[in-house]
Amino acid sequence: MRVGDKLPPSRVLAAQLGVSRMCVVNAYAELLNEGLLAASPGRGTFVASAFGAAPENSALPSIAANPSAGTLPADSVIAFSGGAPAEEFLPVAAIRRAIEAVLERDGAAAVAYEETEGYPPLRAAVAQHLASLGIRTAAENVLITGGCQQALDLAVQALLNEGDTLLTTNPTYLGILDIARIRRLRVVGVPVDAQGLRTELLDSALVAYRPHLIYIAPTHHNPTGSVMPLHRRRVLLRIAAAADVPILEDGVYHELSYGDEPPPPLKALDEYGIVVHANGFSKIVLPGTRIGYLIVEGGLRARILRVKQAADICTPSLNQRAMHHFLVSGALSGHLDRVRRACQQRRDAALKAAQRHLPSGTRWSAPSGGVYLWIELPQHGVTAAQLYPIALQHGVSFAIGSEFFVGESDPSAAYFIRVNFAQQPPLRIEEGMRRLGAAWRAASQQL
Ligand SMILES: Cc1ncc(COP(=O)(O)O)c(C=O)c1O
Repeated sequence: MRVGDKLPPSRVLAAQLGVSRMCVVNAYAELLNEGLLAASPGRGTFVASAFGAAPENSALPSIAANPSAGTLPADSVIAFSGGAPAEEFLPVAAIRRAIEAVLERDGAAAVAYEETEGYPPLRAAVAQHLASLGIRTAAENVLITGGCQQALDLAVQALLNEGDTLLTTNPTYLGILDIARIRRLRVVGVPVDAQGLRTELLDSALVAYRPHLIYIAPTHHNPTGSVMPLHRRRVLLRIAAAADVPILEDGVYHELSYGDEPPPPLKALDEYGIVVHANGFSKIVLPGTRIGYLIVEGGLRARILRVKQAADICTPSLNQRAMHHFLVSGALSGHLDRVRRACQQRRDAALKAAQRHLPSGTRWSAPSGGVYLWIELPQHGVTAAQLYPIALQHGVSFAIGSEFFVGESDPSAAYFIRVNFAQQPPLRIEEGMRRLGAAWRAASQQL
């Protein structure tokens, strides 16, 4: 493209490329941040010159020429958009010590192929760790995967065929929607409220859509942050068992609680043998070593193993051994305490700043764990997608809520935004919310 060319709207380009809209929006945001694009509210996004300046005679709308649009602040965009834990809490020194110790102890075995099921001592350590969450299982039922994302994908591949139906909460985790798209599944969403999946709607959804699998993250749900209370968990299990539909439970945020203790995972309550539990260490230790796991029994385990073998033979042995070293060193509980405290402090900062800076009529509820604040902007005002480019100009980003909904949902979905507060220290959270409020007011004036 040439300087001054207008870029297509993110929804159009996403459809053309067959990628998610969030992917395009984030790419635009990065290029805006680097000064390679310039956005003009109401007119669109344009190619800037390599150094961000429009040529003298260009028709390119420049941000600087339109101060009311807000200039990109020098101290970069405050990113509330991703799903990552805070980098300053990743245990770099501990993992370096673990890697060195493992290489010293195991030599070539640490960098050779590993068993497809996973490094046996890590499988045993995971089984032991899960007992503290009420999940009692043998090490042989633990399959180590490349993060929780691969755990979900392997389970989906083993349980479903192309064209089958997956039922989930609406909204739901973006990563399961990506899996469903790539595996060509039909997705059905069941509405949620502040207590997660509305189980009173489940019976009729199961009759109407006959799903082959239910995917659910019952504790600190992404994106809403909700926790399903015990009675709903039991109702879900009973209804799914009666309809003979397996449940894929996602537990990645379960241990990131800093309020009341959440109810046990579905797997711990499962009297029927219908729950496959997916989990991992990305959110509670670090995401980069890609260590996740599935808890799965019986014939399904062998099927999943064949899918894993075909996917990548094994999860890297060195990473598995390092995570095992970290777990058995006893470092997890102190580390988790620090991460929980930091998340709680940041949650509090986000709630206070939201109260102070977001427009009246904005709604959210305080999460008791996890890293997300799910915010509903005033209905009939600026939508999240309209707010997004203007928020970037004000130096703040978030995830557009409608991306997390299944299909064409009701119009209120357009007003949700997801804020990851865990990635920023409290002062940046305060500043980010101030920018968000300012962006909302600027966007409202342009509507
Ligand atoms: C609900 C949920 N499940 C799974 C994952 C993926 O986790 P991992 O990094 O272990 O693959 C995420 C990451 O954001 C998530 O939010």
